[in-house]
Amino acid sequence: MVSEIRDKKDEVETLYHHALSRNILISKEALEFILFNGISLKKVKDYLNELPEGILSVDNLKELIQQTTTPSDQVEFEVLRTSTKHLAKNYEGSVKDIWTFNTDFESKTSVDNFLNYFRDRYKKIKSLLLQRNGVKNIVSIEKLKSHTFNESVSIIAMIREKDDYGKGSLRFLIEDDTDEIIAYVDEKIYDVAKNVVEDDVIALKGKLNASKKYFIVEEIFYPDIPLPTNDSITKIEDPLTAAFISDLHFGSAQFIEKAMTRFLKWINSDDKDASRLKYLFILGDNVDGVGIYPDQEKELLMKNIYDQYKAFEEFLLKIPEHIEIIVIPGNHDAVRLAEPQPILPEKYLENAHKMKNIHFKTNPAFVEIHGRDSAKGIKVLMYHGYSFNALIDTLTDIRKVARDKPTVVMKEILKRRHLAPIYGSTLIAPKEIDNHVIDVIPDIFASGDLHSHDVSNYKGVTLISASTWQAQTSFQDRVGHVANPGKLTIVDLQQRNTRVIDLLG
Ligand SMILES: [Fe+2]
Repeated sequence: MVSEIRDKKDEVETLYHHALSRNILISKEALEFILFNGISLKKVKDYLNELPEGILSVDNLKELIQQTTTPSDQVEFEVLRTSTKHLAKNYEGSVKDIWTFNTDFESKTSVDNFLNYFRDRYKKIKSLLLQRNGVKNIVSIEKLKSHTFNESVSIIAMIREKDDYGKGSLRFLIEDDTDEIIAYVDEKIYDVAKNVVEDDVIALKGKLNASKKYFIVEEIFYPDIPLPTNDSITKIEDPLTAAFISDLHFGSAQFIEKAMTRFLKWINSDDKDASRLKYLFILGDNVDGVGIYPDQEKELLMKNIYDQYKAFEEFLLKIPEHIEIIVIPGNHDAVRLAEPQPILPEKYLENAHKMKNIHFKTNPAFVEIHGRDSAKGIKVLMYHGYSFNALIDTLTDIRKVARDKPTVVMKEILKRRHLAPIYGSTLIAPKEIDNHVIDVIPDIFASGDLHSHDVSNYKGVTLISASTWQAQTSFQDRVGHVANPGKLTIVDLQQRNTRVIDLLG
């Protein structure tokens, strides 16, 4: 490490003189930042060449990192000369469950079951809405009817039906745990109201009409998450990173072996972020599966599910043991589709199940990593993302962009505080509780499924739609996914910034 820094120091000095020749002074803080934050010197030099005369500050460099967090980022580890033991080995990992589910299958489903599920959703999201600023004068629908005409009140309700007539005209049938009423939306908020979906639980501010038969909606509130403060952005003290991959699809003829070999090369390399890598998240569709879609066998390299999981397991076991791996299933994995999906079974992954550093979790899963008695860890919400498809198809405003930029739909999910807002958008295990309500605000929300790749931030929450290792298949064509494979997302848990490495670049 020391010799690595010494080598870099010489190069930074050359860069400093290059900047001076262009009448740019690199500040002392910026020099230290360049030296210790693994930023590409070539990128800094290119950036300098674009700058007018003046001072290069740390803020400039942070801006540069943001700009270079793109899929075209090149793998830099190949140019590093020294090999030292990985820094992350010196730190003990910790993975704690925030959510735990009973995933025993209950075959019995009844009307009561179904009603209790929706009551549970209503109750949980109502409590989140009550914490929101602006939601005042709340009345139940039953009590509303005894209120005077024109009095401004708020109702917390579930959308049972939505009729969008276009051109500013929209009507809901809303209900709470007391009654139901027809609600007409004021034309002024049509653009907001048209993005409300059936089964959403929202607050509607408005008043009764003159006949007291209808509610006129003037403002809509989602439960949402609050704006971040300096204190609410959790960072860990230790200099560690986490990486996110998804939809590996072992066994598929379209599996991109180069992505795996480059990944394993990177993870064992002297790259600064690889050296600090302590947590690896794998977001489901670990294998391609068997019989998932018609004629799938024509696109399979391994036609036996055991062989597919054996290949996946071999990959897992090549990852250094000091890295904590957190794995969830997806809709291609050999577990039931109904969510919460159970953990990947031991019968397919016997050796991996024996490993202390490999944590098999449900889909969805919510974990806290690197928490200490003295300090908060990073809360990571993991969801494969099957329900996103229906939400994308329903929301006209995001339909055209969300398959390329899936974090757009992830923002909608966080706004609603629900992983599958539209009932039926994914299979749900028949339980009397709704396990998809996001009752805790994550630091990182990671998903897969769409085979695209995107990283962004919503009110301080890092959103990651992790990239696949599968090239486009006929199935992906059919479901409208466009693959953007081989992008590795890395989060610096100490700085809370992200970097993307193109494993296929
Ligand atoms: Fe997939």
